[in-house]
Amino acid sequence: MTPIKECLINKSTKINPVWLMRQAGRYLPEFREIRKLNPDFIKLCLNHSLAEEITLQPIKRFGFDAAIIFSDILMVPHGIGQTVQFKKNFGPNLGSLELNILHNITKDDFTENLSPVYKLLFNLKNSKDLHNKDLIGFVGAPWTLLVYMINKVSPKNGLSEDFFKDEILINEILNLLDKFIKIHIENQIKAGATIIQIFDSWAGLIQNDFDKFLYNPTLSLVNHVKNLGVPVICFPRGISDYVKFTKIVKPSMINIDYNVDPKSLIKSLDIPIQGGLNPEILLSNKENLRKEIKKYLDIFKDHPYVFNLGHGILPETQVDMVYELVNIVRNYK
Ligand code: CP3
Repeated sequence: MTPIKECLINKSTKINPVWLMRQAGRYLPEFREIRKLNPDFIKLCLNHSLAEEITLQPIKRFGFDAAIIFSDILMVPHGIGQTVQFKKNFGPNLGSLELNILHNITKDDFTENLSPVYKLLFNLKNSKDLHNKDLIGFVGAPWTLLVYMINKVSPKNGLSEDFFKDEILINEILNLLDKFIKIHIENQIKAGATIIQIFDSWAGLIQNDFDKFLYNPTLSLVNHVKNLGVPVICFPRGISDYVKFTKIVKPSMINIDYNVDPKSLIKSLDIPIQGGLNPEILLSNKENLRKEIKKYLDIFKDHPYVFNLGHGILPETQVDMVYELVNIVRNYK
């Protein structure tokens, strides 16, 4: 059994598996080299052989316990027909919502549009580099994808009142997302994903209607993954009540963000926990890194715990600090 499955299924507290959110990305010089030659990010995600190389880059360097496929949560809006572009030093930029296009997309069209993602998983499934490691597929949660689809850009400065003005549109998109995210999950599992992670990066922006935007849509996906026989990790970044979320949604494991006090959770959460470390700690120094990692590992000594960050690794992270992180986690006693 893989180290993460030992933790998730056997509830082992003895090993601390480790991988990092956004491990396949911009902090790696070998990724930046490929990226320079491939200015169209969506095209790069759909180039299965380059995506395979990028997925394996952090595994070859650091020997993490899981590979997360090189892809993006915005592949779902792309797959159903909304234009997605990534602009340099700006981030994602989505096109207008053409409901007649989005409504006409079939399961087969969608699967065809994203077929390189599934080919990527299929090819990675038997890779020697992934022996005894998990292969993580992922999706964005409906709320976070709704935010990008309507807001069109990252909601770094929050959402305007306007965002909620067209309730019919919101309901239509949520229905569409439930359907196509489930298809994307199913296709990834069929192709070889051994775990699914659901990223709800903007969950912290929800202020009302938690059932409608957070609990119900996520529970629907979690049940879908479980029915397909695969563990599911939730990352509802920035919410104020992880305990309530976990009780309602019941994921196989919960990834906490860095604003959560890990001590306060340990008594109330009876499922495996992942993550927590503030990615900015990787920008400090080795001594501080050791101290902060030890804090998490001490607290979770008797709890099934997968070491990870409380959000994605930052592009300015030095590779040296990542080697040190893995070293500290692996040698912790
Ligand atoms: O974890 C991994 O290494 C696997 C690949 C992965 C990417 N995006 C590749 C990527 C994963 C799991 C994601 C998830 C993702 N994408 C999330 C959820 C996690 C989070 O960080 O909150 C979100 C919100 C997105 C949307 C997205 N994609 C944004 C906002 C951006 C631009 C800014 C940024 O954070 O990088 C991207 C681009 C993106 N996705 C890059 C990579 C490697 C950088 C592309 C580049 O080189 O410019």
